[in-house]
Amino acid sequence: MVNQRLDLLTDYPFQRLRDLLGDAPAGGPAGAAPISMALGEPQYGPPPILMEALTRAATEFGRYPPAKGTDGLRCAISDWLGRRYGLTGTKAVNPDTEVIPLNGTREGLFGLATVTVPAVRAATRALVLTPNPFYQCYLGAATMAGAEIHLMPTTRESGFLPDLDALEGETLDQAALMYLCSPGNPQGAIADQAYLARAISLSRKHGFVLALDECYAEIYDDAPPPGGLEIAAASEERFRNIVVFHSLSKRSSAPGLRSGFMAGDPELVRRFGKLREFGGAPLPGPIMAASEALWRDDAHVEQTRAHYRALFDLADETFGNRPGYFRPAGGFFLWLEVGDGAAFAHRAWTEAGVRVLPGGYLAREQADGSNPGDAYVRLALVQDRAATAEALQRLAALMDS
Ligand SMILES: Cc1ncc(COP(=O)(O)O)c(C=O)c1O
Repeated sequence: MVNQRLDLLTDYPFQRLRDLLGDAPAGGPAGAAPISMALGEPQYGPPPILMEALTRAATEFGRYPPAKGTDGLRCAISDWLGRRYGLTGTKAVNPDTEVIPLNGTREGLFGLATVTVPAVRAATRALVLTPNPFYQCYLGAATMAGAEIHLMPTTRESGFLPDLDALEGETLDQAALMYLCSPGNPQGAIADQAYLARAISLSRKHGFVLALDECYAEIYDDAPPPGGLEIAAASEERFRNIVVFHSLSKRSSAPGLRSGFMAGDPELVRRFGKLREFGGAPLPGPIMAASEALWRDDAHVEQTRAHYRALFDLADETFGNRPGYFRPAGGFFLWLEVGDGAAFAHRAWTEAGVRVLPGGYLAREQADGSNPGDAYVRLALVQDRAATAEALQRLAALMDS
């Protein structure tokens, strides 16, 4: 006996990329090493305060950590939300009831569906609404929770965000959960305040939970992206139905730390905490101490942002006015329009020795049979400057050949 819901999921995009490339040898200049731009794993390296705090707290490995996290970490998170989004005074996020640390954002994004999706909604199967393309966890979470997926295409025409006004009332009534991502993975589009306010008001009008994945909120070009909680805090119902997700994987270049948090509606935070008590694992004490130090420090994040800006400047210089290229407002991905993403990814590997991800693997077919990612590839600008410059030049040459 197995849970057949798992079989509804296709292989993860990186497995599909391995299948696409098979044993094909990497091309590129003779003797040059291949370069990967497929995985969004920052290579910039975390700041030294991580190891210092971790080492100081090492004896905590000898204790069971508290399920909902340490007071110190939850307070550091609430203080950061105060600095970053002006959530202070009456708007301040309550560290006891409105925040829970996560073993990486993915843990919470997944678990949220388990604690929110009912078997039946509006007399039919509950819907989970997700942008298309999207971070694959949303699909896994919805599928394993037994929901039906409703794809919201994000295209150049829709500004690479779902068109909320295109959603029908019936769909919204059936929705148990909507995921939105800003800055978005893969396109880097930023939802402005009016967009977030509209999403929040829809979630209240139609009674679904709004999960705002803001894990790239600290990686932006010009202005800091607005956050869901700052908009919700100004509303009468405060955080009702709204949760946001943040991560140290991108902010502090520490994807291996596995540390993030969920904040917002205290009832959703409580329900997630209960799920963890039965089947989850709290963050280890030293990891929480390191996370606390990172959330309390903003200087290293300024450096990280400058690093990514310089990489995007390189992309501007290299791709210039090519029609398929644009500089994203946030995040660290390029979403390059190349015609046939899978064919381009194959050529990028075999002719240029650069590993990129076909955009179609991050999306699913819409009802009309179109896949909004098919014409694109995603390039993660996570390597150092020299490797990034080299990879971009090889790809530009490929586009011109
Ligand atoms: C959009 C998005 N959300 C969430 C995550 C998960 O981040 P983590 O679990 O490392 O915090 C990622 C990681 O790549 C992501 O791209």
